[in-house]
Amino acid sequence: MTTPILRHLDDLRALRRTWTRAGETLGLVPTMGALHSGHLSLVEAAKAACDRVIVTIFVNPKQFNNPDDLAKYPRTEQEDAEKLAPYGVDAIYVPDPDQIYPPGFATTVSLAGLTDVMDGPNRPGHFEGVATVVAKLFLQSGAEAAFFGEKDYQQLMVVKRMARDLDIPIEVVGCPTVRDASGLALSSRNARLSPAGVTVAGHLNPLMEAAATRLRAGEAWGPLQAELGAALTELGFSEVEYIDLRRSDDLSALSALTAPARMFVAAWLDGVRLIDNIAV
Ligand code: PAF
Repeated sequence: MTTPILRHLDDLRALRRTWTRAGETLGLVPTMGALHSGHLSLVEAAKAACDRVIVTIFVNPKQFNNPDDLAKYPRTEQEDAEKLAPYGVDAIYVPDPDQIYPPGFATTVSLAGLTDVMDGPNRPGHFEGVATVVAKLFLQSGAEAAFFGEKDYQQLMVVKRMARDLDIPIEVVGCPTVRDASGLALSSRNARLSPAGVTVAGHLNPLMEAAATRLRAGEAWGPLQAELGAALTELGFSEVEYIDLRRSDDLSALSALTAPARMFVAAWLDGVRLIDNIAV
């Protein structure tokens, strides 16, 4: 059976009403399409936890600080629907742009603190765009739970805080990053890497894991951070935006392993911005 594709909020709400009347819970998997195994693992988690599942596909212009990135973002609705078919999701919500941003749309959701670091300053406006569209998707769907990858760990924290602060009654569930055999975190942007770039990118996660092992063994973070940066530059990464050690719970900076922590990297390769993070 082909999965229904909904393009209007009224249709989403009508479907949701029938499920609510039947006492069924809804799990939401928000995406921008170009689906890969990472997204499909979120769908599996949603299917396991909820009676009904909706995947949303919306390339959200408000979260792109770089117009070139927005223009190049893959749009593959037909293939995405084919990839989702075996999972038996109940609907795919591909809202027409005016269903998210009607004429005169004037509201922005912004968060302090969590967005002051890493991708916040490096991608001005990005988290406002994410928080605004995700708040809309939560409110439009009335879902009981929503599933996000830990690959975008800062985004996951931002979305959790936004839902909590705005009293949106939804559980935000973080799911483990899915990686290829080299350790490269799956991302829709990986498709823009050259074959040589894919090989280089495959070194990122093993280098991070090696640094984490040494950190756990008692080596100081400062020299490890510098060594990792030098190794990435040597490999061919054109710019290393940040290599950070931060508390897992509030993203405040750490200079040593004094609390549960994650290591975060953002670096450019082949004109593609790659991010990764691991628990240390
Ligand atoms: O992670 C993404 O794909 C996007 O940031 C999201 C959460 C779907 C919001 O547009």
